[in-house]
Amino acid sequence: MALPKAELHLHIEGTLEPELAFALAERNGVSLPYAGTEDLRTAYLFSDLQSFLDLYYALMAVLRTADDFTELADAYLTRAAAQGVRHAEIFFDPQAHTARGVPIGTVIEGLAHALDRGEERHGVSTQLIMCFLRDEPAESAMETLDAAKPYLHHIAGVGLDSAEAGHPPAGFREVYAAAESLGLRKVAHAGEEGPPAYIWEALDILGVERIDHGLRALEDPELVARLVRDAVPLTVCPLSNVRLRAVDTLEDHPLRAMMDAGLLVTVNSDDPAYFGGYVGDTFHAVREALALSQEQLRELARNSFRASFLDHDELRRERYLAEVDSYDFDAAG
Ligand code: HPA
Ligand code: ZN
Repeated sequence: MALPKAELHLHIEGTLEPELAFALAERNGVSLPYAGTEDLRTAYLFSDLQSFLDLYYALMAVLRTADDFTELADAYLTRAAAQGVRHAEIFFDPQAHTARGVPIGTVIEGLAHALDRGEERHGVSTQLIMCFLRDEPAESAMETLDAAKPYLHHIAGVGLDSAEAGHPPAGFREVYAAAESLGLRKVAHAGEEGPPAYIWEALDILGVERIDHGLRALEDPELVARLVRDAVPLTVCPLSNVRLRAVDTLEDHPLRAMMDAGLLVTVNSDDPAYFGGYVGDTFHAVREALALSQEQLRELARNSFRASFLDHDELRRERYLAEVDSYDFDAAG
């Protein structure tokens, strides 16, 4: 049995495995510019965030129907459950689909169909977080929030993703204020490639409750002190950071330094189909590369539930935390 954990930084479109991409391409009559799954995998050599995003958006062409989104989410839940995930807060990128003519309702209802059965089928509770593309205009984000209004019962919060550099959080002040007034939780990617100033903006201008990535906070001691003081969770994605060259190797990853600094860090997979592992694989990889102790792994698992949006269901959070506390590493092997 795997260590119980929550996954808080996972883009559902980033779980599109080559095999499913080709199957959906065939079903939907979409042609992909790759000879097959092996050929496609050779394209997974990224130099930075943008080089990944180019492929990530291109492959989404195969996602067309509600069933496609259901199948995608169900495949993720199957894999996540096998790696100990008990709770997942899942990002999706509606603008990447509406721009291709796929209605937002198709996307949300397709995903929700799988997620609503997640607990019963896979033992995984879920929430959905709608991300705005920060390299698109803020007006488009606002239109997306408006278009999502009939589906808000499926959505727990909003996030901000895509190309970070040159697209600071401040531009999204109004749409985040509107999201808050609709009762949505708020998170944002910041400090993945962008500077510490973007993390300050996400906190102070957007009012986010969690920072996705947040790696570059370490460049600013005052910011680290603020994040520690307020126990702001950071959803760190070590395999993503290596693949997108934010850090050179996993051995160089500052995860352990972040924990030692008192930051509330969690470990996540980001886009597991592209970055070489799901969240359980990521725990194993950082354990090896950074020589983390069992108690440090347990702390990361505890943090994941502490940082989750389970405030409406504290009993469930307590149950998950109790599972972490009683987890026997030696029995699990
Ligand atoms: N960063 C920004 N945008 C993204 C990512 C990421 O790691 N994955 C999918 N969209
Ligand atoms: Zn991400």
